[in-house]
Amino acid sequence: MSRLLVCPPDYYGIEYEINPWMRISDVTDSEKSKSQWYDLMKTLEDDVGVELERMIPIKGCPDLVFTANAGVAHNGIAVISKFKHPERQGEEKYFKNWFTEHGYKVVSLEDGSFEGAGDLLGFDDIWFGGCGQRSDKEVYTTLSDIYDKEIIPLKLVNEKFYHLDTCFCPLSGGELLYYPPAFDLYSQKLIAERWPFRVIVSSQEAERFACNVVCVGNHVVLPSGCDETMKVLKQYGYITHPVELNEFFKSGGSAKCLTFAL
Ligand code: ARG
Repeated sequence: MSRLLVCPPDYYGIEYEINPWMRISDVTDSEKSKSQWYDLMKTLEDDVGVELERMIPIKGCPDLVFTANAGVAHNGIAVISKFKHPERQGEEKYFKNWFTEHGYKVVSLEDGSFEGAGDLLGFDDIWFGGCGQRSDKEVYTTLSDIYDKEIIPLKLVNEKFYHLDTCFCPLSGGELLYYPPAFDLYSQKLIAERWPFRVIVSSQEAERFACNVVCVGNHVVLPSGCDETMKVLKQYGYITHPVELNEFFKSGGSAKCLTFAL
């Protein structure tokens, strides 16, 4: 059974601006964000059948809810994120504690910034590392050695798509769901040459985080309002589960970044 690490949004809000979506003036509605988050969890548990591990929310860490940025965990080894922005660096110790307490061998990177599974995604045999915005390209050489995986760096060029998971998602059937203009031309060409099955998202739906989905087996949980994307996913045989997540758009996040695959 799939297990996902999540963190309830008790202290979620916009307290700083570190991406173009975030505006301190854009106050979040705490009741709404809680009910959207609980709907997402209910969908994941009841409709998709995943098991959830809940972290304890921490006051003063409004973005801890985005557990995708915890780090990366594979084969019992967890590499903890090293956030680019000081505003999020306070989260690192909570993620580190969680992995340590849950029996992982915890590794911290020495040089470079790395924002975890928000920037590192993959299929079984090949991983992709987003770089150019939050994570440094160089960290992928170290991560490739640690996990013994080929990691292809992909350069992100649009500030709105600052983590790889905002514009790119490998699906369980081998297809890639992505938004090409978020990448530099070299990365776009590389993706197009190597992956025959590509589901391209429109800019309108990319801006509704249509690529920020949780894919488990033939289920895809995605933010609501991405009808074109849902239609194509259904043609590929996926069962789609839309969830309203617009309170989290205010921080630049959606379904996928609210979860971390264990
Ligand atoms: N406000 C957060 C940030 O800018 C959102 C993180 C979303 N996480 C993700 N994996 N895309 O860091």
